[in-house]
Amino acid sequence: MKKSIIYHSTLIAFMVALAACKTQKPSTTGSKIEQSQGVYQYRDEDPTVQPFFSDRKGVIGRNGMVASAHPEASQVGLTILKAGGNAVDAAVAVQFALAVVYPGAGNIGGGGFMVYRDRAGSAYTLDYREKAPGQATQNMYLDSLGNVRQGLSISGHLASGVPGSVDGMVEAHKRFGKLAWAEVLQPAVDLAAKGFALTERDALGLNRIKTDLTTINPGKAYFLKSTSPTDTTTWKKGDLLVQADLAKTLQRIQAQGRAGFYEGETARLLAEEMKRGKGLISAEDLKNYHSVWRQPLQANYKSYNVITMPPTSSGGVALIQLMRFTEPYPLRKWGWNRDSTVQVMIEAERRVYADRAKFLGDPDFVKVPVDTLINPNYLRTRWTDFSFAKATDSRAVKGGTIPGYESLETTHFSVVDKEGNAVSITTTLNGGYGSRVVVGGAGFFLNNEMDDFSIKPGVPNMFGLIGNQANAIAPNKRMLSSMTPTILEKDGKLFMVVGTPGGSTIITSVYQTILNVIEHGMSMQEAVNALKFHHQWLPDKTIFENGAFSEPTIQALQSRGYILEKLTNTLGRMDCVLVRPDGSYEGASDPRADNTARGY
Ligand code: DON
Repeated sequence: MKKSIIYHSTLIAFMVALAACKTQKPSTTGSKIEQSQGVYQYRDEDPTVQPFFSDRKGVIGRNGMVASAHPEASQVGLTILKAGGNAVDAAVAVQFALAVVYPGAGNIGGGGFMVYRDRAGSAYTLDYREKAPGQATQNMYLDSLGNVRQGLSISGHLASGVPGSVDGMVEAHKRFGKLAWAEVLQPAVDLAAKGFALTERDALGLNRIKTDLTTINPGKAYFLKSTSPTDTTTWKKGDLLVQADLAKTLQRIQAQGRAGFYEGETARLLAEEMKRGKGLISAEDLKNYHSVWRQPLQANYKSYNVITMPPTSSGGVALIQLMRFTEPYPLRKWGWNRDSTVQVMIEAERRVYADRAKFLGDPDFVKVPVDTLINPNYLRTRWTDFSFAKATDSRAVKGGTIPGYESLETTHFSVVDKEGNAVSITTTLNGGYGSRVVVGGAGFFLNNEMDDFSIKPGVPNMFGLIGNQANAIAPNKRMLSSMTPTILEKDGKLFMVVGTPGGSTIITSVYQTILNVIEHGMSMQEAVNALKFHHQWLPDKTIFENGAFSEPTIQALQSRGYILEKLTNTLGRMDCVLVRPDGSYEGASDPRADNTARGY
């Protein structure tokens, strides 16, 4: 897949940051925003280890916190909290704001998952994942010889599932919101109608997809700086992006709720768009789409309780498997990213992703053996071939082929309000700007989530993930996800809200970020800043951010047969909140992009 321009700028930012963060100094106080003070006192005895991407400090708030991928969206969330909204009001406002200011992943044309824990400790999860259209068929991306028709599940009209985000937000707000729906939608309407100033990253992202915008959307003027074929001007930092059609779409949703999207004008425009591009989503599909409240997946880890997303995401099951595989080992004593620590984590990841490919799919269509998969007795049987002497061969676990990696264009946000209600949402169009189809007259991108199905057994998707019958395409079925919005309790109280984009790497980034805090004593921001690695069973290699492993760790792992690949790009864009021992919140946003935490 295309490597984004963003990665190049990220790399430069990374190198500058790395040079600047030789030592972790206590944060400076006295700035306007209160910053974290290293409550958990991470220490590494080895001075050659530089575990952090940057020395960004967490933001401290006592009354509320919002961490998201974009400063404008985080500000919207904060404004809603300060206006008396609860965490769900703020989260709904952030989802819609991101659909305006972060069109690469924020969306109304995609889907997502919400994990919610209320202040009294009750937990809920909402599955607003897209569905395959009613006319979808198992082999829709194969030719008559059974070969994959390249690219059809990735770009253009056939790549889109039926969007779930608007229904999800309506459901979440109806059940838990406090402020009026119209009030919660207003900031997004304003951002679309009046425009907002692009960040440098926003500008680069839109410039990067200019060709697709014109070829996939002939005759439309959306997201282009100039529509004249001879004018080569591109977007730059500070330019105002006004989205008049999107503003009208948002106003319809504001006025009519669900019907403002799934019926009436918006639905008509979307169905028309599908007709124009020979896509499958029908007016009927839209009318029939409903998000689903699912039983949260919960599991104990030491004195913590992990509350996470059940299938249709694989993320929760995988996260719990990972945590349970490595729970018996003294990770803290071994040290952060030392060879033994990394080795048991990689071996856990190898086995978990093999299970994912075999067993996971939409629970409304296939029986997913969740209880067995996270059962310690089952996990013990999966560990019998582990040896510290040598890497397990993935082919002995199962077979597959080699993929590429797409840019990080899902998005996660975390919100905690004054009363301690907490929301963890990951939402996506799948690839950056989804299918790149903009709905004519309605002004929003459609997802390319169909690629998350296993379009043919054993054929990798854009994240290199393979699957089988459990995740085969069927009409109205949800495609399997790796998104892992998660909330942790410690001793029965709210402790952490965590999540990230990153396709297949979401699960392992969430896993490492949690362990960084609870095993390695990092603050929330340090855990986010910390460099990351990833293994997904197939391809049988470990990718790592430059600096994540020290030289001795690399040598030790290689001598045991591990294939290591240093990335030139980055892993994860976490947005998290930690409740500190004094009850204040530490908001941590990823320094790898524009992510921003705002608290008060
Ligand atoms: O649901 C999933 O697992 C994927 N559609 C997520 C895609 C993603 O994270 C893309 N960017 N990082």
